[in-house]
Order: sequence, then C-alpha cells, then structure tokens
Amino acid sequence: MIELLLAFDDEAHLATPLAGALGVPLQWVARHRFPDGESRLRLPPQLPPRVALLRGLQRPNEKLVELMIAALAARELGAERLTLVCPYLAYMRQDMAFQPGEAVSQRHVGRALAAWFDAVITVDPHLHRVASMDEVVPGRRGVALSAAPLLGAWAARHAQRPLLLGPDEEAAPWVRSAALAQGLEHATCVKQRSGDREVRVALPDLDVAGREVVLIDDVASTGRTLAVTAEALVARGAAAVDVAVTHALFVDDALAHLARAGVRHVWSTDSVVHASNAVSLVPLLADALRG
Ligand code: R5P
Repeated sequence: MIELLLAFDDEAHLATPLAGALGVPLQWVARHRFPDGESRLRLPPQLPPRVALLRGLQRPNEKLVELMIAALAARELGAERLTLVCPYLAYMRQDMAFQPGEAVSQRHVGRALAAWFDAVITVDPHLHRVASMDEVVPGRRGVALSAAPLLGAWAARHAQRPLLLGPDEEAAPWVRSAALAQGLEHATCVKQRSGDREVRVALPDLDVAGREVVLIDDVASTGRTLAVTAEALVARGAAAVDVAVTHALFVDDALAHLARAGVRHVWSTDSVVHASNAVSLVPLLADALRG
C-alpha cells in the first residue's frame, strides 16, 4: 500500500477523493511555467518510500517532460517504489507502423514510463495489437483497469433497456463487458477512418427502430466516430442515442457535432475532467492501489 499520493493541482478533482478513499496524505507538485515554456517543479522535500503520482496524459506533449522530471525528482527525494496512476494513458493507439518510417509511439512512450516508474496503473488503455499493460511497460507492473462495467451500469440506469453499441470492432471487449453484468444486448459497427475527422461507420444488421441505443467507447477525441454512428442510428429510427465513454477528450467542436447528430446525453468517467463526467473512477483506482 502507498504512503503518499502526489498530484498536480489541475487534477484535484480525482486526487482529493482518491487520497481520502485510501486514507493517505495528499501532497502537490507545484509548477511554475517560465516565459520560454520551460517548467520548474517543486515536490515535497522528503518523500516516503512508497509513493503514487497521479497524472493523466490528456495533452500529452506538454505533460510528458514534466512527468519525467517529477518521477526522477521523486526518486532523489526518497521514493523507492514509485507508481504512476495515469487514468488516461495517451499514445496507445499508434501500436504499429502503418507507413514505413512511422514511429510506434506506444512502444516508445511505454518504455519511457518503464524507465521512470515501477508500476503504471491506467484505465481502458487503447490496447489493440498488444495483449496487456505489462507488455507496454516492459519489466514493470502494468495494470489496465476497465470502466466498462461502470459505464454499462450507468447506461442501464439511465436508458430504457438500451442496446449497447461499439462504433468499431476494437470496442468489442469494452461493449461486451459493459453489457454483460447488466444482461443488455450489445453489438459493434465496422469503422473506416480516412482522416483525423473523416470517419465512416457501417451499422450491424440489427433492427434499431424505436430502441434506445448507448454508444460505448474508450475515448472520444474529435467526436466524429460517435457522431457518424449516431447519425446512422437516428436515420434508422432509433428512439434515442446516448454516448458513454471512459476518456472525454472531446476536442474543439466535438460536442457540437454530437448534438447536431442527435445525441441525447453524453456521459463519461472523470478520468479527464469534463462537463460530461458522470461516473467516478475513484473506487476503481483506490482498489487497484490497495492491491
Ligand atoms: C479508436 O479506435 C478509438 O477507440 C476511438 O473510437 C477514437 O479514438 C475516437 O476518435 P474520434 O473521437 O476523433 O473519432
């Protein structure tokens, strides 16, 4: 069990209840951003041996350098066993070179985290061609928790016997586990992406007329995947389309697109702070840190 939770102040929404649930002290990594863009970090001057650092990696490019500095400083200040609690772990989608010369970012980010931390705990990482988080952080303990059962339970409470639908085949494991405990019907679509904001989705061969459908996915970024799926469902006569995602990135005009597509409710976990947050990850993360 950890002795201290360290966090950055922009993640107080998770850090404060998580430390409370664990009954451990919470201390902060104070940041100063210099005019040229560099960061000065200040940690508590003395750390106990077992420390967890909470840091989500939404906006990863600006956070990864600070994460490296914080981890290495924590070691110098006394942390012997350092766990990263990273509710949203970025760079997991680029898990192969789709074009010659493309960097396999998942592998390189994973190896960097393995160099800085003894263990990495995350939630619904986008692992497609890689079986487990242990493979992502070689030689370290990798833990992939899933919010899918929590999202399934939320959907079951807030929609009428919904059909849970994944927008692509990669979402199948999340949708299945969201549906299972609730005894809900589930299915997946087939997606083709031709650009950052260009997505086509083929619905499964199911009669959705008059049904409430909840789209379940690990992450929503531009929202285009969910929006085109919702449009197709509305066109087929679905009674309502809601969205439930683990990681609410929702960049730029993503929410406006969902609204135009006819989406009724947008729900997410609090892995990334967002107006759609409805499901708390605190019990899930606290259990993992106790284990
Ligand atoms: C990828 O397969 C993921 O599971 C999401 O479906 C995807 O990242 C969503 O991206 P966007 O919201 O930009 O369509």
